[in-house]
Amino acid sequence: MTLAYWNGTYSPLDEVRISPLDRGFLFADGVYEVVAVYDGQIFELDAHLDRLARSLAAVRIDPGLDRAALAAVFLRLAETAPRPAATIYMQVTRGAPAQRSHAFPASAQASILAFAGPLKRLGRAQQKDGFALVSAPDIRWLRCDIKSIALLPSVLAAQQAAEAGVLETVMIRDGLVSECAASNVFVVKDGRVATPVADHRILDGINRRIAIRLAMELGIPVEQRDVAEAELRAADEIWITSTTKELAPIVRLDGAAVGSGRPGPVWRRVREAFDGLVGEPA
Ligand SMILES: Cc1ncc(COP(=O)(O)O)c(C=O)c1O
Repeated sequence: MTLAYWNGTYSPLDEVRISPLDRGFLFADGVYEVVAVYDGQIFELDAHLDRLARSLAAVRIDPGLDRAALAAVFLRLAETAPRPAATIYMQVTRGAPAQRSHAFPASAQASILAFAGPLKRLGRAQQKDGFALVSAPDIRWLRCDIKSIALLPSVLAAQQAAEAGVLETVMIRDGLVSECAASNVFVVKDGRVATPVADHRILDGINRRIAIRLAMELGIPVEQRDVAEAELRAADEIWITSTTKELAPIVRLDGAAVGSGRPGPVWRRVREAFDGLVGEPA
């Protein structure tokens, strides 16, 4: 049984009933968060709550719960979340007014849905071999910093990766790397790490921040700046980061080898530091 939180009540997920007039359903008018849970402990909850608050403020949704109450929902769901690793998904929409109309309703309470599910971590053996990416144009809007539930371009990009049998699709806008369908991108050249700056063009990933911090603590130079597509294709190493993919080494891009074609030494050092925080995967 998967436990869910829905507008103040906990129940089995398959018993939750949502109005067809919910603006999340009709307009994708909502935002979301995904946290990882390792052995019952939520990883970086404060950072996720900060980002949820930023997303909500950007689209002017009042969740009707304060930060402590939102945190309490995550913590309650973490208690019964699958072990050893899980994710908790939370989405907040602008609610279900009586009529469908594009502009904000005069009165409607936000709808909040949250539930946990198992996180299948990318295993040690897979990481030793590394993963592949394909590339695609970034066809998304210009507020990718908002973690919006309007994800159709990301769905298409993820499907492209699925059909190619690779881990992710890296998106390119105006000759620059933005990010993957649901992860951030790092490149390494001559021992220096670069990752796109977290502005309106990408989501400021929580594991992106962790990877930057860990690399800097290890004395590895990290630049947050525009990264050209040509740099991606000439990189010694590529990594991607996300809550679910953690910190994954990329060894092929559009069928061509990345660097030596094996996970690189800079990735390995940062990955070891990451595993020091969350424990090694199986
Ligand atoms: C578009 C996009 N970029 C980056 C990320 C990675 O963010 P985080 O590390 O907070 O999971 C995600 C996560 O879902 C995402 O959807």
